[in-house]
Amino acid sequence: MTPAASPLVQVKDLSVFFDAGRVGFWGRKRLTVHAVEGVSFDVYAGETLGLVGESGSGKSTTGRAVLRRVPATRGSIHFQGRDITHIDREQVRALSKHMQLIFQDPFASLNPRLKIFDIVAEPLFVHGLVKNMRDAAEAVAMLLERVGLPPDAGARYPHAFSGGQRQRVGIARALALKPRFIVADEPVSALDVSIRAQVVNLLQDLQVEFGLTYLFIAHDLAVVRHISHRIAIMYAGKIVELADRDLIYDSPVHPYTKALLSAVPIPDPPVQRARKRIICAGEPPNPMDPPLGCRFQSRCPHVMHRCRWEEPPLTERAPGQRAACWL
Ligand SMILES: Nc1ncnc2c1ncn2[C@@H]1O[C@H](COP(=O)(O)OP(=O)(O)OP(=O)(O)O)[C@@H](O)[C@H]1O
Ligand SMILES: [Mg+2]
Repeated sequence: MTPAASPLVQVKDLSVFFDAGRVGFWGRKRLTVHAVEGVSFDVYAGETLGLVGESGSGKSTTGRAVLRRVPATRGSIHFQGRDITHIDREQVRALSKHMQLIFQDPFASLNPRLKIFDIVAEPLFVHGLVKNMRDAAEAVAMLLERVGLPPDAGARYPHAFSGGQRQRVGIARALALKPRFIVADEPVSALDVSIRAQVVNLLQDLQVEFGLTYLFIAHDLAVVRHISHRIAIMYAGKIVELADRDLIYDSPVHPYTKALLSAVPIPDPPVQRARKRIICAGEPPNPMDPPLGCRFQSRCPHVMHRCRWEEPPLTERAPGQRAACWL
């Protein structure tokens, strides 16, 4: 499917801070985790926006804020043109019909005491989409078949399935309400490498079939290449580069994108051997005390005086490519 021209989701200047308690004499200093700061992006109907960055960079927090599972400290979130930043709990619940989350760990996210049928049917009953068990059985059977699970899967418990199959259950449950937008938070990271491609392919097929829009979170660039139309790279709570997929892989601008890319294996052994791995030494910044200037300064091989004092804005470098770097 070619992505449509109007954004389904618009995120403007989003910041999410968490209160991390107090320290110091009489607890006078308040600690704040700057999980996400000043993040803006659009997700267009029918597209997959990949969101990539290392652990702790704020990817899940961004995804959860978009779904209104954590409150935004600043900024706004629009869904289908409607401002959903401050809607109440009841409205968030109603919205969950259109926006769903697929989790990283399919085992932790499925209630071990419920049969697969109940897990998948629950949202259907909660949102009043089915009225009786017969309708539910029909709907669940269709969903399970569509995600590639055996017909008798509904009668079994989560522990009876492999990791890949459990993720298929998670996908069936997310699909049950026929949402338009899905945040897939590292949906294949916990899976065996050999079955990752199967699950990614399934998500891609479902996107075409149901006209889905994805925010697809991952921590390496290898996983999102196949499925993403555009990719946003996050570092320490900020988007440092956002570009069309091919531009990210063929001509990355930000030094952090280049480092991430150098870690992606190339399936051609001579090319792979000839390639240099970019290792960014140094520590990422403390999320409770982010530095002035560029957040990548402590690890950037090209750091300049200006990077320590002035924060680089996300600016256009080529049509379809923006990066936040003073180089
Ligand atoms: N509820 C919370 N309370 C306090 N701090 C939090 C909370 N949730 C997340 N954080 C902090 O916010 C930052 C971003 O976390 P987040 O989970 O969004 O990162 P991530 O990019 O998804 O990482 P990972 O790849 O490990 O899943 C981290 O420093 C994390 O410790
Ligand atoms: Mg995460």
